[in-house]
Parts: sequence; C-alpha cells; structure tokens
Amino acid sequence: MTQHADTLLFNAQIATVQPDTKGYGLIDNGWLAVNAGKIVALGQGSVTDIKAQTSVDLRGQLLTPGLIDCHTHLVFGGDRANEFEQRLEGLSYEAIAKAGGGIKSTVKATREASFERLLQLAQLRLQRLINDGVTSVEIKSGYGLDIATERKILQVAEHLKSDYPVTIQRTYLGAHALPPEFANSSDDYIGFVCETAMPQLAGEGLIDAVDVFCEGIGFSPQQCEQVYQTAQSLGLPIKAHAEQLSDLGGAKLAAQYQALSVDHLEYLNTDDVASLKHSGTVAVLLPGAFYFLREQQLPPIDALRQHGVPMAIASDLNPGSSPINSLLTIMNMACVLFRLTPAEVLRGVTQHAAMALGLEHKGVIAVGKDADLCVWDVEHPAQIIAGMNQHSPQQVWIRGERVIS
Ligand code: NIG
Ligand code: FE
Repeated sequence: MTQHADTLLFNAQIATVQPDTKGYGLIDNGWLAVNAGKIVALGQGSVTDIKAQTSVDLRGQLLTPGLIDCHTHLVFGGDRANEFEQRLEGLSYEAIAKAGGGIKSTVKATREASFERLLQLAQLRLQRLINDGVTSVEIKSGYGLDIATERKILQVAEHLKSDYPVTIQRTYLGAHALPPEFANSSDDYIGFVCETAMPQLAGEGLIDAVDVFCEGIGFSPQQCEQVYQTAQSLGLPIKAHAEQLSDLGGAKLAAQYQALSVDHLEYLNTDDVASLKHSGTVAVLLPGAFYFLREQQLPPIDALRQHGVPMAIASDLNPGSSPINSLLTIMNMACVLFRLTPAEVLRGVTQHAAMALGLEHKGVIAVGKDADLCVWDVEHPAQIIAGMNQHSPQQVWIRGERVIS
C-alpha cells in the first residue's frame, strides 16, 4: 500500500546508530521518509510505495541523527580569560575557586547581566552549536544561585525555544557553588535550595532535571543526597557532576537515585562502575574540561566499556573549565584524549546523549523517532570527527523541517 509522506530523503549512506547495531549501524544506499516530523519509513535500495511531497537526492552523502549536546552551561555573563592566565602561571582551578574566583566570578557577572544581554550571548552560542549539527541541547542554570538569577537563566533557556527549533532541556543546578549570601553556611544554602528555590522554580515549570556539583569545592555527598530527595519528591530526574577532581563516591550515590547521567568521572573508582550499569545511568564524558584544565587522570573508559555503561560525550560549554563552543571539536578530543573510537563518539553525541536527557524519541535513525537529521558531504563517518574544523553539516533537519541547507 502506498504511504504518503512530507519528505523523502534518498540515495544516502545512513548511520542509523540504532541501539542493536554495532559501530555506526550503517545502511548503504539508504532512504527514509518523514511525516509530521517523524521518521515513518526507512529502507535500502530502491524506494517502494512512498509518495512524498518533496524528494531530496542526497547523492551518496552521509546522513546521521542530529547531534545532541547533553551537558552545557550555555547561559552565562562575563568571561574568565584572567583565570586562564592565572592557571598558565601555575595556579590550580581549585585554588582559584577557593580564592573567590571560578564559578563565583561568573555568578557575579551573570547576576549583573540583563535578561536581554544574557539572551543575546546565548543566541550566539546556540547558533554556533547548530552550525555544528546540534539539534538538541541541555542548558544548566547554576550561575545565579539566588532565585531571581536562576529564574533569569532558565527563562533565557526557555526563550531560546522560540528563537530556534532546537529541543532545549533545562536543568536546575542550584547546588553548583556557595553564593556570598550563604558564605560559610553551606548546609543552610542546601536547605534554601531544597525548601525554597527548587520547589518554586519547579512550580513555575522551568525545570526539566536537577543537577549538583558533588566535589570538595562543591557540595558533599550528604548535601547532594538532600537535593536528590527533593528532586524526587517533585518528580524531577537527577544528574550529577561527579568525580571530576576527586573521588567522593558521587556517581554511585546518584545511581542509587536512578540518575539520568553522571558527568565528568575522571576520578570514578572502577568498583563503582557496575552501579551505573545497574541503574541505567549514562556516563557523560567531558573531554573539553579535561583538556582545558590539563587534567592527567583519565576516566575509567575500559571499565565503562566492559560493563556496557552507555557513554555520552558533551561540550560542557562554560566560561571556566570548557570555553569550547563546538561539539565537533569536542568529538575529536574524545577520540584523541580519551581514545574512544569515532563510532563510540558518534553514538555518544546521538543515541547515548538522548538517553542522558531522557529523550529516547531522539538520537537514532529508526521508524517512529523524531526526524532530527544531519547531512554530511563525506564518504565515511569518521571523517566528520577526524578533521577538526573541516566538516560542517550540509543540511540540518529538525522534526522534519530543514533549518540549515
Ligand atoms: O562542568 N564542575 C562544575 N561546573 C562546571 C564548571 C563551571 C565553571 O568553572 O564555571 C563544569 O566543569
Ligand atoms: Fe558542567
């Protein structure tokens, strides 16, 4: 029976990245049909029984799922190039943070910035990600810490949805750093996050997930657990910045609360890896922060692989530890610095990144999934990762609409 569709894309090499496939899940000489924003048919060879309003010959080019940047701090004011200089002179990231710089300096700049200014900066950053083929992005708060500024950040993230067709997930990261109003009373601040800020912002519909910074210069596992309990009572999924600079057991704790993801993980103990598999938690690796902080300790990638823990890759775009506004650059870093294969990396910014955001209807090319797609003028998928600044997508489609052509 003939199937009607809005769009037919044919004559493509398709990297489906489907969960039950190995490597890229390639279909040579493939085609797919899109209707009402969804992939409704997928095949190989000659197209049969599809009547589409628009047909696009991809002339053998590569078709991948749209890329997903599942960990960013994309809305912030100010700049930390001075800290870049300080670190080159020998100061550590932790020492700068303890001296009142680091996240706190961005909090000050973000509080001072107007909504319009933050929006303008965020638009530029988001556009750069879209130019790389990003069709879904997670944006964390955490540079406001007081309610008004956290709201401002989350509202900027919300506003971006009306400017761009990209899917945006908003994550509340109140437990990021200690604000000046609560200096020396971190338990009181966590009380404020749990009793006042999170319920209020969640009530305003501004939060899709809740994150913490579980670290010596962040918050203790006990404090993070309080945040998880509140999130759980509000029906919000959790995530964690864990084991970035030291091993506090933050990843295992987050897994006990069925975290969507635990992120960074350089200091993750291999004994804790099984707990991630058990809870279905994604390990989000952030090679940009590893690179920028000149970290030496690698995440336990072999153990994650052996246990079959899904690994995602993200930019961690932020002014302090990863001021890198390109997911394609980060994908190259994941191969060179972490020795992931290009196939693991493509899966890490598609199928696994979708899981890290609870967006299981995205991230793979399969019937029933959202038609978020990128077209690349390459002969092999590894080319888009191997060549830095050499390949941008020729076309980007979001829910069946062409946004870059
Ligand atoms: O993911 N680790 C905490 N948060 C950010 C860095 C924030 C900053 O330095 O401004 C991160 O690396
Ligand atoms: Fe981060």
